[in-house]
Amino acid sequence: MKNIDSISHLRGESVYLDDIPTIDGTLYAAVFDSPIAHGKITKLDISAAEKSEGVVRIFTHKDIKGENQIGGIIPDEVLLAEEIVDFCGMPIVLIIAETDELAKAACRKVICEFSPLEIITDPRIAQQKGKLIIPPRTFQTGNVDDAWKDCAYIFEGRADSNGQEHLYIETQGAYAVPLENGAIKIYSSTQGPTAVQRTGARVLGIPMHQIEIDVTRLGGGFGGKEDQATTWALMCALATQHLRKPVKYALDRMEDMRMTGKRHPYSSDYKIGLSKDLKILAYEATLYQNAGACADLSPAVMERSLFHSTNSYFVPNAKCTAYSCKTNLVPNTAFRGFGGPQGMFVIECAIAKAAETLGIPAAEIQKKNLLCDGDEFLYGQKAESEANECWNKAEEIFELEKMYTDAEDFNQKNTLYKKGVAVMPICFGISFTKTIMNQARALVHIYTDGSVGVSTGAVEMGQGVNTKMLQVACIVFSLAPERIRIHSTNTFRIANTSPSAASATADLNGKATYMACEALLERLKLVAAEELLADPASIKIINEKIYIGDKETDMTWNQLVWFAYMKRVSLSEHAHYATPEINFDPKKEKGHPFAYHVYGTSVFSVTIDCLRGTYTIDSVKAVHDVGKSINFFVDRGQCEGGIVQGIGWMTMEEIVFDKEGKLRSNALSTYKVPDIYSVPKELDIHFHESDRKNLAVLNSKAVGEPPLMYGIGAYFALRNAVRAFNPDVQIPFDAPMTPEKVLMALYSKEKTADKKHGAATLAAAQLKPK
Ligand code: MOS
Repeated sequence: MKNIDSISHLRGESVYLDDIPTIDGTLYAAVFDSPIAHGKITKLDISAAEKSEGVVRIFTHKDIKGENQIGGIIPDEVLLAEEIVDFCGMPIVLIIAETDELAKAACRKVICEFSPLEIITDPRIAQQKGKLIIPPRTFQTGNVDDAWKDCAYIFEGRADSNGQEHLYIETQGAYAVPLENGAIKIYSSTQGPTAVQRTGARVLGIPMHQIEIDVTRLGGGFGGKEDQATTWALMCALATQHLRKPVKYALDRMEDMRMTGKRHPYSSDYKIGLSKDLKILAYEATLYQNAGACADLSPAVMERSLFHSTNSYFVPNAKCTAYSCKTNLVPNTAFRGFGGPQGMFVIECAIAKAAETLGIPAAEIQKKNLLCDGDEFLYGQKAESEANECWNKAEEIFELEKMYTDAEDFNQKNTLYKKGVAVMPICFGISFTKTIMNQARALVHIYTDGSVGVSTGAVEMGQGVNTKMLQVACIVFSLAPERIRIHSTNTFRIANTSPSAASATADLNGKATYMACEALLERLKLVAAEELLADPASIKIINEKIYIGDKETDMTWNQLVWFAYMKRVSLSEHAHYATPEINFDPKKEKGHPFAYHVYGTSVFSVTIDCLRGTYTIDSVKAVHDVGKSINFFVDRGQCEGGIVQGIGWMTMEEIVFDKEGKLRSNALSTYKVPDIYSVPKELDIHFHESDRKNLAVLNSKAVGEPPLMYGIGAYFALRNAVRAFNPDVQIPFDAPMTPEKVLMALYSKEKTADKKHGAATLAAAQLKPK
């Protein structure tokens, strides 16, 4: 089944926030935000801005009736600055005017003076100064300290990965409308309607039942709207609360890039120990997460980095420590993979370091260490692994050996172009790591004409979750898709939702939908049995026809629904699903946090231009674990998009903050995301299907985040291509691998493995390359 939005998307008829028809008298918001990264406000003069044309009202933190507090995990973030500003882009003053342009014009008339405070942008410096969001956490298994002595080779070094702009096509925004008796309705481009409602209640000082959040769809979220949509919704709501007028704020691209958080940059140290036959015996890593100025979701993101710090490998002795470091940057937030990619990148660097020093393809080490069934992750859960299956299939279908030899042949024949090949296996845990968040609800109504309406807590953001919800209802009722409609996500219909995040949205809400539909179906079968004088167990409903056993009756779905209504049987059901089996004990850092894992293996081939440093991604081929996909198109779309987004993070997308904490890559002219010209020339995705039972909805595994991590392969393929031109060059592990960095590496003279690039110790120096 095609994505149910595909036709309205194509025709430009799909409704996003900015397409909602505005009510007469709607006002527009703009925010005056901090031009400096850290300082004390010494003077704030809004008098000129107040007199500016079209300005209706200007709000500061003093106008907040509830609490000036929007921190979700830790209460450390204000909606509007009080005395101190902690980052460039921090909202200070909210301006409401008759038009968007007039509100923005008034922003420029705000006079704000500061006495500057020390600016920290480097997470390692923040850690040294004790500026941490939460105390550090360590996940460990076995005994690393004892294991080093058994290792034939030990390698250590540093790995850095940069942030990433979400670059959702639809920027952040909200539209607040006053309802009667002090209530407010907010249309919000949010992944977390309940987060907006809950935080709104806190800031506005009114109960949650006074705040209705409604979401039709988002033009992309990627994690950027999991927590950080709340700010903009509450700016509108604050003004609506005071003015009793509709207020809209849709950020322009530069406001969005300046004022919203991104993927967390990480700086890490690793140490890896291998046996003579290349088994990973020990792995130790210290991760410094650049959290930015406030917690936001950083503690949870940091936790997932630890969960995924050994990627899809079995490591008997591992110890990984993470610091969430407080810096004077815009608070970083969820981004597809949620810290997982950052953790996985580090062990891949460690393996690459080992492979480069030993003179073997990294794949030899990767393959030898893939998780097998029953292997324990460092947090205690046992793997139900598809890692070897995916790898072996990839090796076979894509003729991996031939890819290597083809690249070698090419490199022999060409001096100015070089090819590089890399394999990237992934393993990603599905569930919110905070166990309580793994719950969802669905409300299903069958109307008296036989049509069906479904509401869930799932937010459609282009990922196709509504299509999957529709499929679940279609399958249970055996109805055609036209008979069922998925309604907007609304906090008055579905309460206390978890955000649409963690790749778990279709599973959680789909299971709830399944349960609600099942309950209704059972009820309808009883009605049919009564009408047809048959055994309820013998009733079947297939394609709107009622059957007794295999015998078709005259009764139709529509008639049955009507009979039920006449008998005063409820045609509505609200179901609740909570993921079973999962648990995690943060005191021991052990448990079974994930419903299941998603596995896969991708193979990258790239060509670099050795004069210019430019490159093309020739092909990305992947075998991806889907369980039993219920929607080929949606799942393939997620794989393709995730891979391209991952490649972007690892290659061309370069966020630049200067020493003053100012974002220099603050527009689409200075920040490059993959476009149609930079996607891989060949993108070949095979689904690895398996009958093994899992906790996914209809056994169709989550697909949102995992494919992004294939993109890490692009980084290593480029490295390998560079090393084909400049053998034994020591390239710092510092993603993204931009063309500039490729060019520098191509002509770099650094060849000795010194401390800066990772030292090889013990027997490694004596090992002969294969
Ligand atoms: Mo997603 S990064 O879990 O919002």
